[in-house]
Formats: sequence, C-alpha cells, structure tokens
Amino acid sequence: MQTLTITCPDDFHLHLRDGAMMHDVVEDSARQFARAIIMPNLKPPIVTTAQALAYRERIKSALPPGCRFEPMMTLFLTDNTPADEIRAARENAHIYAVKYYPAGATTNSENGVTSIDRVYPLLELMEEIRFPLLMHGEVTDADIDIFDRERVFIERILDPLMQRFVNLPVVFEHITTRQAVEFINQGPDNLAATITPHHLLLNRNALLARGLRPHYYCLPVLKAEQHREAIVAAATSGHPRFFLGTDSAPHARHTKESACGCAGIYSAHSAIELYAEIFERAGSLDRLENFASRFGAEFYGLPQNSGSITLEKTDWTVPADLHCAGDTVIPFWSGQTCHWKLK
Ligand code: NCD
Ligand code: ZN
Repeated sequence: MQTLTITCPDDFHLHLRDGAMMHDVVEDSARQFARAIIMPNLKPPIVTTAQALAYRERIKSALPPGCRFEPMMTLFLTDNTPADEIRAARENAHIYAVKYYPAGATTNSENGVTSIDRVYPLLELMEEIRFPLLMHGEVTDADIDIFDRERVFIERILDPLMQRFVNLPVVFEHITTRQAVEFINQGPDNLAATITPHHLLLNRNALLARGLRPHYYCLPVLKAEQHREAIVAAATSGHPRFFLGTDSAPHARHTKESACGCAGIYSAHSAIELYAEIFERAGSLDRLENFASRFGAEFYGLPQNSGSITLEKTDWTVPADLHCAGDTVIPFWSGQTCHWKLK
C-alpha cells in the first residue's frame, strides 16, 4: 500500500469554540496537528491575555491524557484594545498573534474593528515588537458585492497597510481569490497567507448551483472556478508564504440549515487527508509537507515539530454527521470518498 509520512503538521487557523462543543471537536484536530492557532471569536471574544490563558487551560483539559496538542492563542482586536494588552500578550509565551476582524464581517465579529485607522497606533506598536497581525481579509461596506469583498480589501485596507507598516508580520487569512494570490506573490517577506481545504476543493457552484447547500457556506464565501484554480496553484507551488490553515469552524446542524444560516465549515475531521487529496490531484504530493508542516512554522519563527504522521492511500467515506455537544455537526466532505487516510 502507498503511504506518505510527513513531519507533524500545524493548523494555522482553527475555531475550537468553547464548552461542550470544544470538548467534542478538539480531538479531531489533535489527531492530525501538533499545534494550532486558535481563533478568539468566542462570545464574548477573547480580548485579554488573562482570558486567552484561561481559554487555553480549558482546551488543554479537554484533551485526552498524554495528548501533546499545543493551542497557540490569539487576541481579538477591537477599537478599544489597550496598548498594554498587546504588550502583555507579546510577552506571554502562549499568545502568538492578534486577530483583526472587520466589525460584522463574519460569525461572532460584532466587536471587531470599525475602521482600520482607529487601530493604526496599535499596529505601530505591533510592528515595533514584531507581533503578527492575522487578518480576516474582507471589507463589509454595504455597497461592495460579497464576491468582491476580498479584492476590495486588498485595495482599500491591505495594500496601504503593508506600505505603512513595512516590518509588521501579517497573515492574510483563508485567501480565496486570484488577486490575493498575486498580492502575496508580489508582496514582501512579512506577508503570508493561509489556505483552507474547502476553498481548494470547491467553487461557488457547489454552494449555489444545484440547490442551496448551507454546509458549504462560509466566509469568505466560495468563489468562481478561476479563483479556486489560482489558490490551488499557490498552495502547491512551493512558495513559502502560503501555508495550511483549515478555518475549521463547527456549527450545530440546525444553525446552518436555517432561514439565516451561520457561516463556517467544519473541516477539522478529515483536514490533512483532504489536503493530501488536493495536492495529489495537482501532482504535487511531494510539496504537501512544506505547506502543512514547515512554511507556517517558519513564518511564525517556530521550530518544526519533531514527530510525524503517516497517511495511507485507501478509500474511506467521511461520516454523514458527527455528534457534538448534544447536537449534530455535518463534517466537510460528509458522505464523500476520501482517498487518503490518517494512520
Ligand atoms: C468562522 C466561524 O464560524 O467562526 N466562519 C467562517 O465562515 N469562516 C469565522 C471566520 O473565520 O470567518
Ligand atoms: Zn476563521
């Protein structure tokens, strides 16, 4: 049987939630990934180091005994984040970055930044202390079409920001467009991007063309095929500033199958297997390890993991549903065949 052994990968963009949901999903990530950047968009959001450390403890205590999964914590940036919170976070070994959400852009982002210039003084500080800024790269202006939100974000927010803060480490999260790929390719070394399995596998037809598929609804929303092709080319190119971030985001089934369904796809269940599928289809399986296990760590200035994981070339079916927190979560690729299986 064909097998593939790679250094233990990391997930540089993960939503674990809290309480019973977190308890029931964290093992899916811990099975595959050694570390993950944990998103702070809880309700209420994680805005202080003290909250992040308490959340980290809750995650650690939900792990099975002996499991060494490392949650890499982040702070949620608001208009009113005090500079001292940023300094305290930077000095703490468990806090790795600050997450920018435009107010109202996505799930639990009501307390996000209302206008980027309001946080410029904080970004100056972060640049000085070299603290990574993770950006949800969309604008929320009512006059901008939802499929153009990422492209306009580059023009209005990201390009000016990169010119002004030339030493600020920035991760453009979950990119979905050709324009984002081009911007990273031409960008400086302090700019990188994460790419999700769902944006690599699907275009917007999957969401809209044969009935409305709420389990394929996420933000940024799936884009047209030419954009999917561009991000596949980027992920599999071997360029070190594109790396793995699942954006796995569990929601109970009934909150997605609703008149106003939540944005978020639960991909953690079979993430590394699906990335293997994508890289194999692109004829670039030999580049999976750098994308999944090396480039992200390098960008964050972290050592690579010492362990390894092995995938086997064997067909299996992703479960139709999962039981989480007394509810049902539909995993990404549910009921479909995956050709690689984690050993
Ligand atoms: C995420 C969530 O559910 O927390 N949803 C999503 O569609 N990706 C938030 C986010 O990262 O935008
Ligand atoms: Zn996310």
